[in-house]
Amino acid sequence: MERLLIASLLMASACDDGPAEAPADPIAALEVVGDDPSDHPIAGLDDEWQRRFVVGDALFEQVFGPEDGLGPRWTRTSCEACHENDARGPGMVRRALGAEGFEPGELVHPFALEGYERTLPEGAQTSARMGPALFGRGWIEAVRADAIEAGARAQADHPEVSGRVARVPLAMATPAQRPFHDHAAGAENLIGRFGLKARHPTIDDFVADAYLLDMGLSSPARPTEADGDQRPGTDITLDQVHAVADYVRLLRIPERADASPEGQAIFATIGCATCHTPSMPTRADYPVPQIAGKDAPIYSDLLLHDMGESLSDGVSDHTATAREWRTAPLIGLRHLRAYLHDGRADTLDEAIRAHAGEAAATTARYDALTPATRTPLLTFLEAL
Ligand code: HEC
Ligand code: HEC
Repeated sequence: MERLLIASLLMASACDDGPAEAPADPIAALEVVGDDPSDHPIAGLDDEWQRRFVVGDALFEQVFGPEDGLGPRWTRTSCEACHENDARGPGMVRRALGAEGFEPGELVHPFALEGYERTLPEGAQTSARMGPALFGRGWIEAVRADAIEAGARAQADHPEVSGRVARVPLAMATPAQRPFHDHAAGAENLIGRFGLKARHPTIDDFVADAYLLDMGLSSPARPTEADGDQRPGTDITLDQVHAVADYVRLLRIPERADASPEGQAIFATIGCATCHTPSMPTRADYPVPQIAGKDAPIYSDLLLHDMGESLSDGVSDHTATAREWRTAPLIGLRHLRAYLHDGRADTLDEAIRAHAGEAAATTARYDALTPATRTPLLTFLEAL
């Protein structure tokens, strides 16, 4: 462990010099709230799925070291560090924006083995993305592709909102195809659903990316071995990738209280539900029967929306532009302490007021609500 160089200073300075809206030290402020535990599997799973949930849960919490193949550069040493209790943060991912010695959008890793440190120039701009909550991701994966397409077509005639489908080449899917993807025979691309800019079609792909990009751990799905890697050969097996992916896909949507039917009605009336579609139908043949052929209560159309310049993070991601984001699923909001992609909003009210671009007209209607109508809306959201 002597070879380990803790370069956390780099992280601190990146925070100080980040975009003006980014929180100064979001990490310090974060912890999971709520007295109901979040780490629960979907109800009614059979023994095999239960077993996979438990195995994946342990891997999700596993802390890696250089001897396991961590690095030579990394951001955090476990999944849990950025998705604590499956909620948002505290760990986050930073990318360089036009900094000397870094490609535009290149990851800035705060930790490195000796000899592999890279210092971000003083004052360099970075983008910040916080690890989003992972509850209910199986429901998102199970949503029917044709329903996502239909949502985009319906919005084509909408006067304000014009979400679009994120299309991802089939070649980006993991080599070991699993039955979770919804792709018609002969399709040339899949629908991106995962990632803040919907860059991946499946959870397995995302997990393989997370191991490689956030932790420097290679797997058969992402075999690139960086110079300086301390463990010869790939670091993680495909089985491990799949087990963690299964844990994520089997996380249940936290129980919801039916807190305010009035607030729910306002949510629809002022236009929130256009993007935050309360439910989307799932495939009948999705491999987890408990969530197959149901309505997924995810409060997202899973489309990309232009959210305006103030929410741009300066980084395009596959087909999504810097200003475009996937409609954030409103799941387990009461377990979060910070909202939006970089955690810049401390309250739901702030998060809503930050909506611009396609959401500008909705935000204006929200702003025009009297406190007597705004309160039930917030009560409804807090219970999701
Ligand atoms: C350094 C922090 C960090 C670590 C470590 C990390 N993540 Fe993430 N995770 C993020 C961020 C940030 C995003 C959003 C990334 C984006 O879209 O650019 C994300 C997104 C995800 C998503 C997509 C969620 C969605 O709503 O689309 C999944 C699934 C996920 N992570 C799982 C994992 C797993 C499993 C691990 C461990 C192998 C892991 N993450 C490790 C920060 C992290
Ligand atoms: C044009 C589509 C659109 C409309 C309309 C819209 N949203 Fe959003 N919403 C988004 C997107 C996209 C994000 C993610 C933005 C980001 O992270 O920067 C988001 C994020 C959020 C978040 C933060 C969730 C989280 O996990 O941090 C909340 C809360 C929210 N919206 C509530 C609302 C409410 C309430 C309304 C109505 C007043 C509304 N939204 C209207 C697209 C929309």
